Amino acid sequence: QVKKNRFMFIVLLNSLQFSASGCADRRNVTAEPGQNVVLPCRAAGNKQLIAVEWSRSDLESDYVLRYRDERLDEENQNPSFRTRVALLDGAVKEGNVSLVLKNLTADDSGAYECRVAQRGAGEANANMKLISTVYLDVAPPPPPDQIDITVKPGQEAILPCRLTNSGLIKVVDWTRNDLGSDSVLLYRSPQFVTDQQHESFKNRVDLKDRQMKNGDASLVLKNVAPEDRGTYKCQVIYKGANNNKTQSVYQVPVSTFHLISVSRNQHSITAESGQNIILPCQVSDRSPVMVVEWKKAELDSYSVLLFRDSQFDSEHQHPSFKGRVDLRDRQMKNGDASLVLRHLTTDDSGTYECRVILTGAKRNLVAEPNIIINLTVSPGESVWVWIRDFIHSAEFQPKIFSVGINQ
Ligand SMILES: *[C@@H]1O[C@H](CO)[C@@H](O)[C@H](O)[C@H]1NC(C)=O
Ligand SMILES: *[C@@H]1O[C@H](CO)[C@@H](O)[C@H](O)[C@H]1NC(C)=O
Ligand SMILES: *[C@@H]1O[C@H](CO)[C@@H](O)[C@H](O)[C@H]1NC(C)=O
Ligand SMILES: *[C@@H]1O[C@H](CO)[C@@H](O)[C@H](O)[C@H]1NC(C)=O
Ligand SMILES: *[C@@H]1O[C@H](CO)[C@@H](O)[C@H](O)[C@H]1NC(C)=O
Repeated sequence: QVKKNRFMFIVLLNSLQFSASGCADRRNVTAEPGQNVVLPCRAAGNKQLIAVEWSRSDLESDYVLRYRDERLDEENQNPSFRTRVALLDGAVKEGNVSLVLKNLTADDSGAYECRVAQRGAGEANANMKLISTVYLDVAPPPPPDQIDITVKPGQEAILPCRLTNSGLIKVVDWTRNDLGSDSVLLYRSPQFVTDQQHESFKNRVDLKDRQMKNGDASLVLKNVAPEDRGTYKCQVIYKGANNNKTQSVYQVPVSTFHLISVSRNQHSITAESGQNIILPCQVSDRSPVMVVEWKKAELDSYSVLLFRDSQFDSEHQHPSFKGRVDLRDRQMKNGDASLVLRHLTTDDSGTYECRVILTGAKRNLVAEPNIIINLTVSPGESVWVWIRDFIHSAEFQPKIFSVGINQ
C-alpha cells in the first residue's frame, strides 16, 4: 500500500513538471559591470539529466555553456564566456542548472535561454526543452555626480537623489561627511527617524516627494545657512522589481554636492576721517587666490583695487584710491584678500565688495561678491569700528577704540 502511494506521488509530480515545462519561466535580472550573477534555471530533480544548454538568442550557433554526459563541452562555446561561466557545484544533481556568469560587461546584456534534456524512468528519448529565459541587463552604476549648487542664505535648496532603476525605496539616509554618525535626514519605511538627526537640521529638511515615486529621494533643505556648506551623500535601500527576498544597498555616492552660499558676510564698518583701515575679505578655500577685485558700488566700472596675473592692475583703478590702497597680505596666504585703505575721507563712505577667484575655480568676476562691507566714515573724533570677524593685523594697526559685533 505504501509503495503504491509513493508511485502515485511520483506520477503526480511528473505530470506537474510536464505541464510546468509547457510554458518556460521568464525572468529579468539586472546587474552592474564587474559583478557576478546567477541566472536561474531549474530542471526536474527526479529525472536523469542528459544535457544542459545555455545560449543567447543573438549569438547564433555558439553556446554560452553546454553540459553533456556530466562534462562541460568547451568546443562550441562562445569564446567570450570561456573562463567566465560555470554551473553551481553540487546543485546540478538536484536539477538546479542555474548559470553562474562572472565579471559582467555591458556586452553580456541579452536574453539567455536555458534548455535541458532529461530522461524519466522508462523514457527512451530525451529532447531538449526550453526551461527558462532570463533577460539580463548589465547597466553601469549611476555616475557619482558632483553637483555644485549655489544657494543664498535663507533660500531653499534641493539636493537631488534618484534611483536609476525602478525600485521601491525602503530606507533613505542623507548624511554629510563632516557630521560623524549624525544624519541629515533618515527615513525608514514608513517613518522618519529623528534620534540621530543633527540638531541643525531639525525641522529644516524634508523629502521632495514623501511618496518617493519613481525612485526620487531628493532632499529639501530650507533656510540655508553658511554652515550648511559641505558634501552631502544619499544612500538608499530599495527593493528591486525582481528581487523580493533581499534588499540591495544602492551604491554611494548617489549625489555629492557642495553647497556654496555667497555673500555670506555683510559687514558694517564705521571709521573716522584720516584713519587707516582694513576691510576684511577672507575666503575659506585653501586654493591659491588668482584674482581679487575690490569695488565700490557707487563707482560703477572703476575698481578700488584689482589684482590679477600676479600684479596690481591700476588701469581700471579709480583715481581717488591711487596710492592709498594695498592688500593686507600680498601673498594672500590662507585666502586673506583683505584691503588696506589709508587716509580715509568722508567720501570713502559707501558699499565695498570683494570678489575673489581661486586658482582652478570656474567662477568669474561677475559672480556675487564674497564680502560686502558698508563703510561709514565720519568726520568726528571718536570712532567705533564694528567688525564681525578677523581683524588681527600684525604689521598694520588701525586705531581701534572698540570692537563690537554687528548682527
Ligand atoms: C521584464 O522587463 C520587461 C521590460 O522591462 C517587462 O515588460 C516585463 O514585464 C518584465 N518581466 C518580469 C517577469 O518582471
Ligand atoms: C540554485 O542553487 C543556488 C545555490 O544553492 C540557489 O541560490 C538558487 O536559488 C537555486 N536556484 C534554483 C532555480 O533552484
Ligand atoms: C574583468 O574583466 C575586465 C575586462 O572586462 C578585466 O580587465 C578584469 O581583469 C576582469 N576581472 C577579473 C577578476 O577577471
Ligand atoms: C513579496 O513578499 C511579500 C511577503 O513576503 C508578499 O506579500 C508579496 O506579494 C511579494 N511580492 C512579489 C512581487 O512577489
Ligand atoms: C549696506 O548698505 C546698503 C545700501 O545702503 C543696504 O541695502 C544694506 O542693507 C547695508 N548692509 C548692512 C549690513 O548694513
